[in-house]
Amino acid sequence: MKLASSIIALIFPFAACVSSTCVKMPVMGYEIEAQKPIIPAINHGGPPAECGDPRTTLPFLRAWNAKLKDHLYTTNQTEMNNSITSLGYTDQGTTGYIFPTQELSTVPLYRLYQLCQYDHFYTVDKDEADAAVNKYGYTAEGIAGYVYPPWQNSSCGGVPLYRLYSVVTVDHLYTTSEKERDSASKNNYTLEGVAAYIFPF
Ligand SMILES: *[C@@H]1O[C@H](CO)[C@@H](O)[C@H](O)[C@H]1NC(C)=O
Ligand SMILES: *[C@@H]1O[C@H](CO)[C@@H](O)[C@H](O)[C@H]1NC(C)=O
Ligand SMILES: *[C@@H]1O[C@H](CO)[C@@H](O)[C@H](O)[C@H]1NC(C)=O
Ligand SMILES: *[C@@H]1O[C@H](CO)[C@@H](O)[C@H](O)[C@H]1NC(C)=O
Repeated sequence: MKLASSIIALIFPFAACVSSTCVKMPVMGYEIEAQKPIIPAINHGGPPAECGDPRTTLPFLRAWNAKLKDHLYTTNQTEMNNSITSLGYTDQGTTGYIFPTQELSTVPLYRLYQLCQYDHFYTVDKDEADAAVNKYGYTAEGIAGYVYPPWQNSSCGGVPLYRLYSVVTVDHLYTTSEKERDSASKNNYTLEGVAAYIFPF
């Protein structure tokens, strides 16, 4: 399904795009993370029970398509391989580790795709995911994995996964690297905040 839509996008870049919904998402602010309640700890046994067992995580693989100006993130090695061999993406290694199933203290990381402007977008905020579909022409592509939410902080051992967005190229960039965050911020990307806490690579 994901792959199919990517292939359609390459073969029929405009046919599949409904222009009325092909609207650029604006830059979002830090308020995304500030308005959410803190998830209460479910028990007090300490990690890993309260936080999920890091050994069950998978690499959150990252690829970049220079032609489409799109960063793709997935835990699915087959999808990553296909993207590299057939869809023009370049392997960019691993962003960090996320859970393939829901663990205590984690929330779904929703994955969306905008076919008109080739943008993969990831958010833990269901309202924001719905708005991307209803207002900006994104298609919901399910759940990329499970992560500690941005409003929870690093108490489970995760590090911030920074979220940046370039309205120039319509590309969402996610990185745990402060160095990359800062250099991208100087190159048309705006830092939108912390998308999640994930385990470092
Ligand atoms: C992906 O490609 C790598 C390198 O070619 C290979 O080692 C691996 O087995 C492939 N994995 C899958 C799931 O296709
Ligand atoms: C991984 O991706 C492949 C190719 O897109 C797909 O056929 C497969 O169902 C995916 N696996 C999972 C676990 O999502
Ligand atoms: C992180 O969150 C936990 C649980 O909500 C809380 O006990 C802890 O004080 C917080 N730590 C920081 C540094 O905010
Ligand atoms: C970033 O923006 C500047 C000024 O708008 C432009 O000259 C430059 O080409 C842009 N860089 C990229 C990578 O799009």
